[in-house]
Amino acid sequence: MKKAVFLLTNILLTIFFVSCKNKSEEYIDPRGTDFAGSESCVQCHKTQSDMVFQSSHFKATAPALSENVSGDFDSKNHTFIYDQNTKLVMEKHGDSLYQVLYKNGKETAKYKFEIVFGTKHAQTSVYWRENNTYELPLSFYHSINNWATSPGFPADKPYFDRMVVKDCYACHSSNVSSKMVEQSSSEKNFMSMDVEDIINKKTIVYGIDCERCHGPAKKHVEFHLKNPTVKIANSITSYKTLDRQQKLDACALCHSGNDGMKLRSRFEFKPGDNLTEFFRENRNITDSAKFDVHGNQFRLMAQSKCFMKSDKMDCITCHNPHENASKNMASYSKICMSCHQGLKHNETTLKTMPEKLLADNCVECHMPKKASNAISFQLSNSKQLSNYILRTHRIGIYPNAKK
Ligand code: HEC
Ligand code: HEC
Ligand code: HEC
Ligand code: HEC
Ligand code: HEC
Ligand code: HEC
Ligand code: HEC
Repeated sequence: MKKAVFLLTNILLTIFFVSCKNKSEEYIDPRGTDFAGSESCVQCHKTQSDMVFQSSHFKATAPALSENVSGDFDSKNHTFIYDQNTKLVMEKHGDSLYQVLYKNGKETAKYKFEIVFGTKHAQTSVYWRENNTYELPLSFYHSINNWATSPGFPADKPYFDRMVVKDCYACHSSNVSSKMVEQSSSEKNFMSMDVEDIINKKTIVYGIDCERCHGPAKKHVEFHLKNPTVKIANSITSYKTLDRQQKLDACALCHSGNDGMKLRSRFEFKPGDNLTEFFRENRNITDSAKFDVHGNQFRLMAQSKCFMKSDKMDCITCHNPHENASKNMASYSKICMSCHQGLKHNETTLKTMPEKLLADNCVECHMPKKASNAISFQLSNSKQLSNYILRTHRIGIYPNAKK
């Protein structure tokens, strides 16, 4: 009896603290009351939580606090020269970070880093203007360890007017509430859009969290808090019960490009849902060579014989959904070999690499790195476009992949 009272008090205290925390930050969860929040999972799923909180998914968007922002703000790599009179400088003032515009040596405007997108290869940031976010003209790229133009931005003049629409948040965050607002007719002509998304700043659920992939889990949490002896999952969709297409769809939601016609918001997707209810495939894109290595892992993988001729390959075959992609190439070879036992390469191939080395490097030759056609960037004082390079998910034979 005493134990039960103690437990109950604990539960009430937890609920009290959780709700207090949210109130003090004036944070409003736009998903309503069915969601428990990722912090509540830790107490029972420490292993998964420890991995997830470190993952790129969890950091796919974050408030632009200094610890979340990549890049140099104070040594020599923090200036971008557009022309002899115009430069943009990354500066830190107190706890805030800015891209500051100078014309003829005078500061003329400054734009605050508010939200960051991305951590692994590149990071782009946005500032708030009225009720929307706009992309800052410079992004940070790890491949060059430097700032360069944000993808698609000019290198001859700074540009501050590219709105980062709700669509970006639908793949990079767990939710955000927005309102469609009709624009005045003069603006309408100018923008050639009828409505505009007004984003509610207080409602951004940063990063891709547990419930983005597992669906609302408040009932699950409440049940297991009340029934600590029950070891069978209650009130949560189990991926184990999903068929292959459903599992694929749960990842393809954000990893199959963005050219389909939208029928429903990505935010409404729950595991087990069918992606065809969310998008109508764009049949105009028939040239499969156009599937970009950026953001389209699903379509590329789906073109591989491995995928088409086996009935079990999905994303989880090679990735732990709670962790970043493994950097250990030999670990992928083991997975390849689980389907390709007894594999024999021909003499010519074996001459290029000793068989032992070959065994650890399947990926190097069969999933080579390729330049993205969708993303490129320019360095300060350079006319040259640099490529954004990712590994292709179209597993195949690339005769020139390895010399
Ligand atoms: C009070 C304990 C408790 C809390 C809090 C809790 N869970 Fe669980 N969860 C369980 C138990 C018990 C199981 C069943 C045993 C297992 O798989 O670990 C389970 C299983 C699961 C499963 C596996 C389902 C399956 O069968 O494949 C998922 C997914 C899951 N929980 C997600 C979550 C998420 C997301 C949160 C936070 C929003 C959460 N849980 C919070 C107790 C809890
Ligand atoms: C809500 C959208 C969304 C869903 C659903 C999603 N992803 Fe992602 N994923 C992203 C975004 C955005 C990134 C890039 C994150 C970053 O680096 O900022 C990413 C990154 C990744 C990475 C690279 C992480 C790294 O740093 O190595 C892997 C691997 C991955 N996702 C696999 C999966 C798998 C497997 C699933 C399904 C179980 C899945 N994703 C579901 C949006 C999503
Ligand atoms: C990118 C999507 C994604 C995110 C984010 C995610 N999960 Fe999962 N989770 C999955 C998938 C997919 C599986 C099924 C894995 C399998 O079948 O091998 C899974 C499986 C599980 C399981 C079953 C046991 C296991 O490890 O396979 C638990 C428990 C779980 N997740 C809890 C969580 C918790 C807690 C969080 C947040 C801290 C979280 N997940 C975040 C996609 C995700
Ligand atoms: C259809 C889903 C989707 C949309 C929409 C989307 N992204 Fe992404 N984004 C991804 C995925 C998946 C990745 C990581 C894997 C990759 O590059 O293929 C990614 C990667 C990134 C990265 C690099 C992250 C890193 O860690 O290297 C940045 C920066 C980024 N996106 C910003 C944006 C911005 C800004 C927008 C809106 C203009 C946007 N994304 C729209 C899915 C999306
Ligand atoms: C789930 C099982 C499975 C996995 C895992 C798998 N494959 Fe395959 N792969 C197949 C099947 C089935 C075929 C088709 C064989 C045939 O045509 O007879 C195939 C075909 C191939 C081919 C020939 C492609 C072509 O276009 O002719 C290559 C190369 C290949 N796989 C490499 C790999 C590599 C490298 C990996 C690991 C990164 C891998 N496979 C993982 C099942 C798999
Ligand atoms: C046959 C194994 C295999 C399968 C299946 C697979 N991947 Fe990968 N994935 C890899 C390898 C190998 C890498 C590269 C890791 C590296 O180079 O660090 C990778 C990297 C990634 C990355 C990070 C891109 C980058 O270069 O940083 C994302 C995102 C990703 N995979 C998503 C997915 C999604 C989504 C699926 C399912 C549609 C999937 N993967 C299926 C093997 C696989
Ligand atoms: C040095 C580059 C290289 C590496 C490393 C490599 N392959 Fe290959 N692979 C090739 C080439 C080139 C071909 C086509 C000629 C041949 O069959 O040797 C090929 C062919 C294949 C085929 C098709 C064979 C057939 O009979 O149709 C499969 C399957 C395959 N490789 C799987 C793998 C796996 C699994 C690994 C890792 C254990 C691996 N490869 C490592 C270059 C490579």
